[in-house]
Amino acid sequence: MDTMKSARKNETGEVGSDLSEQIKAATKDNHVRAENTQLMLSYQKGEITLVQYKVLLCSLYEIYRALEDELDRNASHPAVAPIYFPQELARVESLERDLEHFFGSEWRKRVIVPAATLRYGHRLRQIGRENPELLVAHAYTRYLGDLSGGQVLGKITQKSLGLSSKEGLSFFHFPGVSSPNRFKQLYRSRMNSIELTEKEKAAVLEEAVQAFELNIQVFDDLQKMLSVATETADQHKDRSPAAVLPSS
Ligand code: HEM
Repeated sequence: MDTMKSARKNETGEVGSDLSEQIKAATKDNHVRAENTQLMLSYQKGEITLVQYKVLLCSLYEIYRALEDELDRNASHPAVAPIYFPQELARVESLERDLEHFFGSEWRKRVIVPAATLRYGHRLRQIGRENPELLVAHAYTRYLGDLSGGQVLGKITQKSLGLSSKEGLSFFHFPGVSSPNRFKQLYRSRMNSIELTEKEKAAVLEEAVQAFELNIQVFDDLQKMLSVATETADQHKDRSPAAVLPSS
């Protein structure tokens, strides 16, 4: 697939050679597709339900555990070190707090994830082992997303679920980042400082497209899982005595 087909031009009419510009251009169409998944549309309409949020947290936990294990393990790799910001960005502990809040102290036994989430986790662990220079594509897709649209999604979650405090919403809060915009600038300049051959750079762009697709598949699988659960509940309702007996 030609990752540069959707390249967005900058003020000078060309996409620059910086990785941060190229990755944004290469994933522009995928970002639109991600925004238009049913789960993200529910979000934008302020219609996110507690059950949707809970299953999303479970999948995010699986994904960030794999991502952060691999970033930690490869922290000194030359293509990882410049974008390694565990103090500012790490999400695993905040997800653990949120999961405990919603599922209770036995939350580990209750985490359920669909097949797409397992595939995403496997991909992250595989590239961590075999091609750590591609980890930047995944770190970019998740962390810069969390610091962009994710900040709005946090506010929507609080409102939609009627949560009065920040409890259960740690995932959206980055106490180590005082200005998301300034941090994103720093992150982009660090991405641009990574030395990559042309071939490696092309592989990073391709991997970023894959990273968006993996996220889309997770959102779609979560929706499917939820609709099966809702249909099953409806069938049980139909079979209940109140539904089959004629009303008097
Ligand atoms: C950036 C919105 C979902 C990844 C952004 C920006 C907005 C936004 C407003 C800032 C654009 C800019 O600075 O030019 C949204 C909304 C979403 C959503 C409303 C869904 C309701 C996602 C998802 C992902 C994602 C699901 C990936 C998993 C990113 C990334 C950036 C970004 C990586 C940084 C782009 C860059 O500056 O290079 N998003 N987004 N977004 N988003 Fe999203």
